[in-house]
Amino acid sequence: MIIAVEGADKAGKHTQVMRIVEYLNGQGVATETLDFPQYDSETGRQIKSYLTAESNPSREHVMRLFAADRLAQMPRIKQWIDAGKWIVFDRYTYSNVYSIARLPREQWIPEIANLEIMEFDQMGIIRPDHNIYLYLPARISYAMRNHGLKAYQNGKPDIHESNPRLLTDVADVYKALATRDSKHWTVVDEIKPNGIRMNPDDVFNEIRPVLNRFIANAR
Ligand code: TMP
Repeated sequence: MIIAVEGADKAGKHTQVMRIVEYLNGQGVATETLDFPQYDSETGRQIKSYLTAESNPSREHVMRLFAADRLAQMPRIKQWIDAGKWIVFDRYTYSNVYSIARLPREQWIPEIANLEIMEFDQMGIIRPDHNIYLYLPARISYAMRNHGLKAYQNGKPDIHESNPRLLTDVADVYKALATRDSKHWTVVDEIKPNGIRMNPDDVFNEIRPVLNRFIANAR
């Protein structure tokens, strides 16, 4: 079983990925995890250069770079699958919505179909069985853009994090994608009806029943 955790910057994906892995292993399901992009590879170097605006590749090239970064990890992923392990990704194919969100709205859904053809059918990237979308309003991601910066960012948010319009559109593309296919997507809205943001325990409380369902189905 392959589960991808998707969502906006600062939505707490890493925390939830760690909790999911710990929970699954605790339930006797051997589970591995991997983050995308992988910054330490050749594709990772080019991705860093794009995210820090040192280079300005075309939108199509950016999508292929992120896809190539995933492709490079397929041997490792296939080994885990052959060993019967489950895998939890911190971002995966659908994080390429960051590039799709730059297109006019009416092109979003057709372009998602093209993304799936390119990555899954043409490149042979393994399809995730389920995606968990952590929804956080773009204004919060933007307000937190200076938190938790990575070393390569040199103290500055990247070109995605510093673009409030893009972050709003990314949230909308993810929503369009996630809400039309509940079999393959779970949406966790981190804002409670009273307007307060959920803490990580509350978020995991929404994810746990989904994992329990997968475990029950697998047994
Ligand atoms: P990160 O901040 O989670 O390390 O991801 C870096 C940025 O890369 C983030 O803004 C999302 C973006 N991204 C894509 O545009 N396409 C992809 O396929 C992936 C994995 C990430």
